Order: sequence, then structure tokens, then C-alpha cells
Amino acid sequence: MNTATAEPLIRNRLEVPAHPTWPALDDTAKAALRTRIKRLLAERDAVLVAHYYVDGDLQALAEETGGTVADSLEMARFGSQSNAKTLVVCGVRFMGETAKILNPEKRVLMPTLEATCSLDEGCPAEAFSAFCDAHPEHSVVVYANTSAEVKARADWVVTSSIALPIVEHLHARGEKILWAPDKHLGRYVQRMTGAEMLLWDSACVVHEEFKGFALERVRRLHPEAAVLVHPESPQEVVDQADVVGSTTQLIKAVHDLPNRAFIVATDEGIFWKMHQLAPEKTLIAAPTAGEGATCESCAHCPWMAMNALHNLALALERGDREILIEESIRQRAVPPIQRMLDFAREHGIGQPRDGR
Ligand code: 13P
Ligand code: SF4
Repeated sequence: MNTATAEPLIRNRLEVPAHPTWPALDDTAKAALRTRIKRLLAERDAVLVAHYYVDGDLQALAEETGGTVADSLEMARFGSQSNAKTLVVCGVRFMGETAKILNPEKRVLMPTLEATCSLDEGCPAEAFSAFCDAHPEHSVVVYANTSAEVKARADWVVTSSIALPIVEHLHARGEKILWAPDKHLGRYVQRMTGAEMLLWDSACVVHEEFKGFALERVRRLHPEAAVLVHPESPQEVVDQADVVGSTTQLIKAVHDLPNRAFIVATDEGIFWKMHQLAPEKTLIAAPTAGEGATCESCAHCPWMAMNALHNLALALERGDREILIEESIRQRAVPPIQRMLDFAREHGIGQPRDGR
């Protein structure tokens, strides 16, 4: 593989926060908070757009109130399909930014603006722009997990559910690709498509913790289980997968495959939806422990964990925590995202709701 390294590695720069702890809620307090949020959503003409990795209480509330629980591609699409004046994005910052880029007329709020992503942080716009300038003959394809500034420099934005067909399409047109920021997803796409790709050197701190040899041991204990892996995971984990895919594709696999048990290598927040769709199936978390393990995130994204009922209520009440993007950057970030959405529509990818 033709690999260029853009230094430095994210771990040198980014401190992974501890998982936040939220005040415990008994049933009565939780019911009161949920009622308050429902009232505020109606008063503010707001709708929830939640990712599968956030707390199950938030996912449930999004579904009950006419919002959505989805992967990054579907979250990007949902905003424009909704008539609500305000989108409240429960997830990480790049998801809120994508919603704002595509829906400038809407107000986009988040429970917290602190919820970032190690991939986004590992790809600063200035260094990335220099990387692009050094390789002008390449088409620039960036993962959705990037800032608005980085997207503004791209030809294409992709999410994990659509990266393969888009790169296949570009490869078939004879294009060479500059890929950022996730080196594991980039390497997976490169191996599957045979495209010539230069890879930025960054990784997801959550998926990078899954360990290949520990997974082998768990597979021996559960030979009947299918192995489901998000492609942000290291190669030795991806190599053991029965299904490699986006969050939506992994959820669909639990529902569709005949196996009674699944070993799941992605953020544990996804179990809420998997249980909901297939309550009779057994879900086993893929191991993050073992040789070389630091377990900083322990299969749960510390930034996704910053979303909770408490700060969602505050965001709605106060109307602060709003995503704002400089207009010139926003305008440049629209075409590469729109290209992805058009490609998805033309090729029937992800709709309607990936068969769920
Ligand atoms: P999906 O697009 O598969 O939902 O992934 C987003 C993400 O951040 C995975 O870590
Ligand atoms: Fe980013 Fe990884 Fe968290 Fe996804 S799980 S938002 S890629 S840090």
C-alpha cells in the first residue's frame, strides 16, 4: 500500500477524557426529566437526531418524539427531511457541524459542544491542507469524522456505510485518492478496492483498543457467534470478522443473520438498538483487554458519553450550545457532502433505513 504518514499521531496530542459521571436518576426523576424535555422539544419546534453510541435513554427519547436514531450518513440526511426549526444533535461535534452545513436556516443545538472525536482532533485543518497541497494529483476523500474546515478542503466526504462504493467508483475512474483521517478504515477500503491511496495517520481511540489475539480467545469460547466489526478497528480484528460495516450495517446483521450470538467490536452504546431489534440474541462485547492494552475508552466513546438527559434539557432550555460555522467555510463544505448524499440516493445506499 502506498502510505504517507502525516505526523504526529493523535495520542501524542489528544488527551482522552474520562467518562463523565451523571447524577443517578430514580424512575420518578427520570420520568420528570423526560417530560420536561418532551415539553421543551414541542415549545422550541425541535427534533432529536441521535447516534447509536449515545445513552439508551436518549435513543429512546429520540424515537418517541419523532426524531431519529441513526448512523452518521442517516443523521446527515435526516436534518433536511425534517420540518423542525431546531435540530438537537446527540452525538459528537462533527455530526452537529454536518447538520448545520446542510441546514444553515435551522438552529443546531447539542447537549454539549465539548463532545469531540479523536479522528477530528487528529486531523487539524492547516496540516491537512498542506498534505493536500503536496499531492495535487489526488482526489481528496475525507471521512465524515472531521471538522467543517477539513471537509471544506475535500472533493468527497464519506461515512463508513458508503466509503467502499464511493472509493470503488473513483478507482474505476482512474483516480488516485488522498484519504483522511482514519488509517484503519483507509487501509480496509484500500484492501477491498485496490485503489491507490495515500493515508493520513490517525485513529479512533475507541476502536483501536480492540485486540486481535484476545478476540481469537473469545471466538474459541463462542464458536457459534458471528463476529461483527466496525472498520475503524485494527486490521487483525477486521480480519476475523464475519461482517465488517457501519453501525447500521452491524445492527442489520444482528437482526438478519441466523446466529444466536454475536461478538461485537464497536462502541457498546450500539447494544441498545441491537437488543431492541433482536432481544432474543446474545451480544458479547469484543475484548479490549490484553497485551498492549491501555483501555482508555474501554469500548465506549468518552465524547459520546458526554450526552445525557441532564445536559440535553439544559441545551433546550437555554438555547446555548449552538453550532455556528463561518459562512465561507460552510459553503465550501457543502459540495463534498452533497456529492456523497447524491451518490447514496443514486445507488440506493442506506435508504429506506437500511431495511430496518
Ligand atoms: P457510523 O457512521 O458507522 O455510525 O460511525 C460513526 C462513528 O463515529 C464510529 O466510531
Ligand atoms: Fe470518534 Fe471513535 Fe468516538 Fe466514533 S467512537 S466519535 S470515531 S472517537
